[in-house]
This record gives sequence, C-alpha cells and structure tokens, in this order.
Amino acid sequence: DGFPGEALFNQGFCYTYDDVIFHPGFIDFAADQVDLSTRVSRNVSIRTPMVSSPMDTVTESDMAIAMAEAGGMGFLHYNMAMESQLEHAKIVKSHRPGYVANPAVLRPSATLRDLDELRAARGFSSVCISESGTCGSALLGLVTTRDAELVRDRNTLLSEVMTSVDDLVLGSTEKSAQENEQILLESKRGKLPIVDAKRYLIGLLTRATIKDRLNRPPSGVPSIDKHGRLLCGAAIGTRDADRVRAKYLADAGVDAIILDSSQGDSIYQLEMIKYLKNELPHVDVIAGNVVTQNQARRLLEVGADGLRVGMGSGSICTTQEVCAVGRGQATAVYKVGQIAKEFNVPIIADGGIQNSGHIVKALALGASVAMCGSMFSGTTEAPGQYFYQDGVRVKKYRGMGSLDAMKKGSDSRYLSESGHLKIAQGVSGTVRDKGSVKTMIPYLVHGVKQGFQDLGADSLTKAHQILASGTMTMEARTGAAQREGGIHDMHSYTKVPW
Ligand code: XMP
Repeated sequence: DGFPGEALFNQGFCYTYDDVIFHPGFIDFAADQVDLSTRVSRNVSIRTPMVSSPMDTVTESDMAIAMAEAGGMGFLHYNMAMESQLEHAKIVKSHRPGYVANPAVLRPSATLRDLDELRAARGFSSVCISESGTCGSALLGLVTTRDAELVRDRNTLLSEVMTSVDDLVLGSTEKSAQENEQILLESKRGKLPIVDAKRYLIGLLTRATIKDRLNRPPSGVPSIDKHGRLLCGAAIGTRDADRVRAKYLADAGVDAIILDSSQGDSIYQLEMIKYLKNELPHVDVIAGNVVTQNQARRLLEVGADGLRVGMGSGSICTTQEVCAVGRGQATAVYKVGQIAKEFNVPIIADGGIQNSGHIVKALALGASVAMCGSMFSGTTEAPGQYFYQDGVRVKKYRGMGSLDAMKKGSDSRYLSESGHLKIAQGVSGTVRDKGSVKTMIPYLVHGVKQGFQDLGADSLTKAHQILASGTMTMEARTGAAQREGGIHDMHSYTKVPW
C-alpha cells in the first residue's frame, strides 16, 4: 500500500512538496511529546528545525535574535559591507534571551538632538547612557521621555538631563531573567538596565518586554552556544574578500557560515571549503545550494559540514525559468538526503516552504532543518519598514538575484562575474504584515508536531529511521487530488496569516 521514498523518487519525474502526500502511521504518543531536536550542520544543534534565510529582506540581527530565542537560528545576509554584517553578528552574540533586542544606547556627550534622531529611527522611549555609547561599557545613566521632553535647547548634553546610575534600580546578570522581572515589577519603574558585576551595561528589561512575552504562546528553548550566547549563522560568498569576512565573522562568534550560491557545485566552493576547514576549524561550513547527489558528494568529500538544498524552488526565484536548471524540491531533498546520510551530515531544505505541512514533508523526506525566506518575510523582525499598498500593510520581500538586490551588490550569488550584463534570477515585490515571528513559530512548531504524530514518528530521528527502512509510505497526488487536499467549495472562509 503506497510507495517507500526509494520507489516514488526513481520514476523519471521530479516532485515538489505539494505533489507528494504521506500515509498516516500508528499513534501511541501525544503531539506534545514529539521531539524536534535536530542539527543545522555537523556541530550546531537546535531544538526547533527552522532557520531564516540569508536574504536582505529577511535576516539581520532582529530576525536572528528572534529565531534563536524561539529555538531555531537565523543566517545574516551579506548584501552589506563587512563591518555592518559584523555589527549584526555582535548584536546577536551579545544579546541575552528575555531582554530587549539591541537596546538603544548613547554616550553622555551626545545631545538631545541625537536622542530625537535615534527615537525617530527606532521608536524607543528611553535610552541607556554608557561610557562608549554601546552595551559592554560602564552604565552611567538613563534618559526617559520625562527627562528629555520639556527641555527646549536640543543641544543640551544627555549627561545633564539623564537620571544618574546611582538613582536607578538595576537588574543583574547574576540573577535569572525571572528574578530581574520581579525587581522591575516591584520597582514600579518602566525600565530595568541589566548590569554585570563591574556595572557594565549588558541589556535592558522593560515592562513592554514582559507584557509581550505574557501575550505570546510559549516558545521553544533558546538556541545557545557553549558560552550561553545565542546561536547565529552568516552567509558569505566565495571571493578572496570573503575569506577575510569569514575570519572576522568567526572572531565575532558566528557558529556556522553559509557559502551562498544558487549553484554550489563549483571550484570556488570546493576551494573555499578547504580553506575555511583549514583556517577556521571551529566554525561549521554549510555549502550549496545543491539538488543532485553528484553535486552534494563533491562538496561533502572536501569537508562541508552541512548542505543547503534547493534550486529555483523559492517563492521569488526565476532560476528555473531563466537558466533551465533546478529540481522539484521534494525530490531534491530526498535525493541529497540519501547521500548526506552516508557522510552523517545534515541537510537544510531551502525554499518553497509555505506552511507547516511543507516543513513536515521536508523533514520527513530527509532534511534536518527547513530554511524559510517568504514565510518569515513581512514579519516585525524582518528588515525594512511597513507601508500601505492597495490598503494592505506590507513589507518588501525580494530575491537576492533580483535586479533590485543585485544593484546593492548581491550579484556574486548568481555568478554574474562579468559585471557587464546583470541577468535577474529573482523578483522583487511585497508581502503582507504577518506580525511577529515570535508568535508565528510556536504555531508552526505545533503544526509540525501534529504532522509527526500523524506519521507515527515521535522524533525527527525516528522519522528518518522509518524513511530509511521503507516503512514510511507515500504517493504522488494528481492535480485533482491536490485540489481536493486544499480548501474547496467554500463561499468564504478565514485563514490564519501563515
Ligand atoms: P522562499 O520560498 O522561502 O525561498 O521564499 C527562499 C530561498 O530562495 C532562494 N533565493 C533565490 N532563488 N533567485 C532564486 O532563484 C533569487 O533571487 C533568490 N533569492 C533567494 C534562497 O535559497 C532562499 O533561501
């Protein structure tokens, strides 16, 4: 009854997620008991098998922090100067789960005008004042709206209006997040700067952060490194300058580096992997993208610690139309997964994911993690501002191979080295406001757990075992079966936004 993967994916067709449907397995456990712990790459483990794509409308520090706090991980894009990417990496690695991400900090020598500009750009009401104007140096005070609003002369120095550190109630890194929350609540104040033993500013806790947490569904266990810092990935290219970028990213504490290319089976990636494995052995290198076993094998043989799978399946991709190469994503994940297993290296199913069912399919077909661009675009944590288009609140989302993104410099991903003609392999557009990923991810996770329960797999490891043994059975769906599996024959209906 039904086919094991080996039979379905060897018939001369390639399938994508919607083409394939799994048969249910036997349930003897609750959905809550499903363990989705997994690996992003050889040495990087997380509990929520979702990562955000290194795209300039998806992952900068806000997204990377939110993803890691929710148990997944974010990969910083590299369509920006090395210094900016490093800055984002440092923000993620210095962030403490449970506190404000990247709090606003200024120097005491800054003026009220600087404060006004910072507020206009980032919308904060209070700003911490530290010696160097960043976290990680001596806390000197706090400027609140009340301190600043009625002062006429906007050239006044912040040192003159701030509430001095000696008059502040402070939280401490030596206390737990819950204990610091209690101190803030009892203090009747709005903000609680968190300091270390030397009274250096480490973070900020606000009433709004607590309210925000209480109003959300509980999220997973944060993804942390061996020093307790949030996990963070970053993308680079394969040019000489990227070797320098990789070194600085490693120094900033980045845990895994993605070699970002739509076609990873190249001499450039082989050489880059060898170089990085030699020079930076403590950072995992994720190569790709690949869709065939031959491509995968070459990268694995030179030491890739992970593979990113997918070519032209992304929602903004035109690679298959422009270049006539690629593969249906379900087949690509299954086929590459078979080879990666031989090397004990996890694979990332990248692109084409639109719902929790697609994540279940990606994982059940052999992926260890699902990488999403579109799904996490348009969220609060995605870079860019919201604006209105035809009455709908939207944010920009664009392919890294779109003309729009390439104008900013991302053309190396699409190998347009000649520099004379830029051929777009992606589009640029908008997606609607989806709220915060912190709310979205717990729902996705629960959807995936229910999918695993239906499959009769109480963990990702178990799902991969039954896939390998051939007891996980599936079929391809006809067009009519796909229509039947979707919503039909309704006059109207409402749907959750993801
Ligand atoms: P989703 O479907 O999640 O896909 O939006 C995100 C993935 O798409 C890839 N990507 C591109 N592929 N042209 C392409 O052919 C592009 O311009 C482009 N930009 C991103 C990338 O793998 C990403 O993770």
